[in-house]
Amino acid sequence: MTHDYKQFKRRIIITGGAGFIGSHTVRHFVKKYPDYLIINFDKLTYAGNLENLRDIENYPNYVFVKGDVADEDIVRETMEKYHVDSIIHLAAESHVDRSIFNPMEFVRTNVVGTVTLLNVARHLWEKWDDIENPLFYHISTDEVYGSLGKEGKFTEKTPYDPRSPYSASKASSDHFVRAYHHTYGMPVLITNCSNNYGPYQFPEKLIPLVALHFAEEKPVPVYGTGENVRDWLYVEDHAKAIDTVFHKGKIGETYNIGAENEWRNIDIVHKIGQLVDQFLGRPQGYYEKFITFVKDRPGHDFRYALDTTKIRTELGWKPEMPFEQGLRKTIEWYLTNKEWLDRVRSGEYMKYYQQQYAERLK
Ligand code: NAD
Ligand code: TYD
Repeated sequence: MTHDYKQFKRRIIITGGAGFIGSHTVRHFVKKYPDYLIINFDKLTYAGNLENLRDIENYPNYVFVKGDVADEDIVRETMEKYHVDSIIHLAAESHVDRSIFNPMEFVRTNVVGTVTLLNVARHLWEKWDDIENPLFYHISTDEVYGSLGKEGKFTEKTPYDPRSPYSASKASSDHFVRAYHHTYGMPVLITNCSNNYGPYQFPEKLIPLVALHFAEEKPVPVYGTGENVRDWLYVEDHAKAIDTVFHKGKIGETYNIGAENEWRNIDIVHKIGQLVDQFLGRPQGYYEKFITFVKDRPGHDFRYALDTTKIRTELGWKPEMPFEQGLRKTIEWYLTNKEWLDRVRSGEYMKYYQQQYAERLK
């Protein structure tokens, strides 16, 4: 499908749109804003799955571009082709465990990729005089603030103290985004979000992994003693927060996004076990024998918790999904969407781009 960019009020690149949070964000914007052209720009690494967006792939305001954020040429070509006025940047290597084994890929995508996008956008937006409100909106994580003890919360003013290669690469990219604002007057926004959960998350992350292992009667690996604490937000609430910040955020500002919903890993694991047993009609407590304490993640951050007063009071956003309901919905989704899961596990999902797109784009 060809797109005349002039028909659209805004032309927005969403990077990483084939990933977990990216696909929910793309779907949210495509459906809610038919007058915005949404360009999903994604390299399709193992974490990128276009099948996540099957339901909207034929919408007239949606385009997919296969590209690497660290490749200056394709970034420039895409921005020029669609006269892009905004970038919502989610593309990243996102898994802490992988960053421990392969930090360089995190530097390349998360740091070099972010600076490449900033650079190309800055030069084009300085040159184009018909764009009134350009915006570079960078999506980041609460992990940049470091690790908390039992008390306290991170605010937007908490000094950065990243401790894993993943969080160090995200912190570095956040610094570059701010530096472009202060040095070149680049119009930027940053949000730092807590752990997300929901459908379409790659099943290497805690919640889907645990649900599937319980269901399949496999050992459920709990790192260390399971006492580490995370603050969990339903992914569609994150997409709505991104919409709010995109439209109402004050340029140059940072906002924390989270549900103020803290859980110890071990408690969440029990909760998931109970939900899986209920769903599969098993006897109460059946799941318990699969819980397996394993060697801790090196440098495992103890606790993340966010103070989200700023976004709630200044922009009026708050999470809508109650945790019990969101978790049940998520578990049921993983246990019923067998085709999606089989294709992810077999690697078939990686052929989807070739099958659906490559021919059309020739
Ligand atoms: P994900 O791993 O599910 O998806 C990442 C997407 O980025 C994939 O589609 C992948 O193909 C794409 N990508 C990777 N490298 C790329 C490159 N070089 N060029 C273009 N595309 C590339 O990640 P996610 O969990 O959806 O996270 C999205 C963003 O949100 C990340 O920036 C992450 O740091 C941030 N974040 C995630 C969480 C969470 O709980 N998942 C919490 C806070 C912030
Ligand atoms: P994860 O989903 O990898 O997110 P993050 O490390 O970015 O917070 O992990 C969430 C928590 O669950 C974290 O404390 C590590 C722990 N964890 C396990 O105990 N077992 C597992 O198999 C995984 C993947 C994570």
